[in-house]
Amino acid sequence: MAKLWGGRFEGATDKSAYEFNASLPFDHILYHEDIEGSIAHAGMLCRQGILTEEEKDRITEGLRQICTDIESGAIEITDEYEDIHSLVESILTERIGDAGKKLHTGRSRNDQVALDMKLYARSRIDRLSEAVKELQEALLSKMEENVDTYMPGFTHLQKAQPVTLAHHLGAYYEMFLRDRSRLANTRKVMNTCPLGAGALAGTTYPLDRQYTSDLLQFDRPTMNSMDSVSDRDYLIELMSDLSLIMMHLSRFAEEIILWNSDEYRFVEIDDGFSTGSSIMPQKKNPDIAELIRGKTGRVYGDLMALLTTMKALPLAYDKDMQEDKEAAFDAIDTTLSCLMLFTGMLKTMRFRKEVMEKSAERGFTNATDVADYLVRRGLPFRDAHTVTGHLVLKAIGEGKSLSELSLSDYRKESPLFEEDIYEAISLKECVERRQTLGAPGREAMEKVISQYKKMNQ
Ligand code: ARG
Repeated sequence: MAKLWGGRFEGATDKSAYEFNASLPFDHILYHEDIEGSIAHAGMLCRQGILTEEEKDRITEGLRQICTDIESGAIEITDEYEDIHSLVESILTERIGDAGKKLHTGRSRNDQVALDMKLYARSRIDRLSEAVKELQEALLSKMEENVDTYMPGFTHLQKAQPVTLAHHLGAYYEMFLRDRSRLANTRKVMNTCPLGAGALAGTTYPLDRQYTSDLLQFDRPTMNSMDSVSDRDYLIELMSDLSLIMMHLSRFAEEIILWNSDEYRFVEIDDGFSTGSSIMPQKKNPDIAELIRGKTGRVYGDLMALLTTMKALPLAYDKDMQEDKEAAFDAIDTTLSCLMLFTGMLKTMRFRKEVMEKSAERGFTNATDVADYLVRRGLPFRDAHTVTGHLVLKAIGEGKSLSELSLSDYRKESPLFEEDIYEAISLKECVERRQTLGAPGREAMEKVISQYKKMNQ
């Protein structure tokens, strides 16, 4: 067991305590960020005259080699080291000798880990954002293909008014737009460099914190060393962003599961994204969509775990904070894989346009339009609502749709009805009359789509 802090100790660490305390089994994935941070730190130490040029070069070269060796598997991640920081520093010292021992000058693992996590979160935010963008692109092309695909819009899961598939998908597009701006905002708020905060109280060395901040592409250094080492807000914010992304994916997945059922038959999920049953030969199950829905709970759990961990921690660093890692890594990995799978599933899914249209024709989705027809002929909306209600009641009694009632049925309820009522309540007309911004009418929809295209460039 190679320890960075053995000097003060006489007794050995209990084996189970050592294992309990170690974070290497999960923080080894931070090796790249840890090395990148150390290279910047060494560069700054040299610039400030704390390391010689030669020492800096040996450190930098040694660290680069360690990075390569971890990637190739030449360095094995074993339980010999407590965490990724110890591993990198110990191996560096083994390889380059005394210069390696100087790397930690003016630094603590507290500001080191704070930096590593920020670098990691930042690069994952960029990747996540890209994945949301790819999903939006897939959505947008489905939307463009379906500005004329009529389907029922629902409230209370009851048919309400006709919309188009483009319009329904557009609702998710909006959610993902918000998700991306939330990610961008989290990135912006967190982009300050904690390196140089030391254990909690800064250091006695003349560090140039602005320089390391610039090297690592932060907007500026953090301004309170205690907060720097104990801030995990950005991980909580990120996990909250991820929880919302997962909620959106889950709602979408739920609709796809319903639509893929024999009761709806609106879509057919491709074989590539379905699985079968070991006993029922006829089955083709939407497991991927179900798992995405299921994993949402897991990401919420990760968020709750860190919120709870942080809630009563006294300043500054406490070891409790090591618990940020598994939760954050899990939430990030889970969300990223769900986003990518969802995109694949969406791209290959078959939309049964005829079934959707038929469904929109049933269930009195055009009742509002009957009332609107009367309003256009001068009847106050509240009276038009009542007249239409009577017509719906009559149609239900006779097992007909509103378009199947005769003109005399209509005129019995109101003399304002003319032959053109049938055209006015056709599916096409019902949708096409809805041209307010954000509505499903073709023109309104196309304007929005072209707006989205511009935004996505
Ligand atoms: N593994 C630790 C963590 O993730 C690194 C920081 C250790 N600092 C300390 N004072 N023990 O939080």
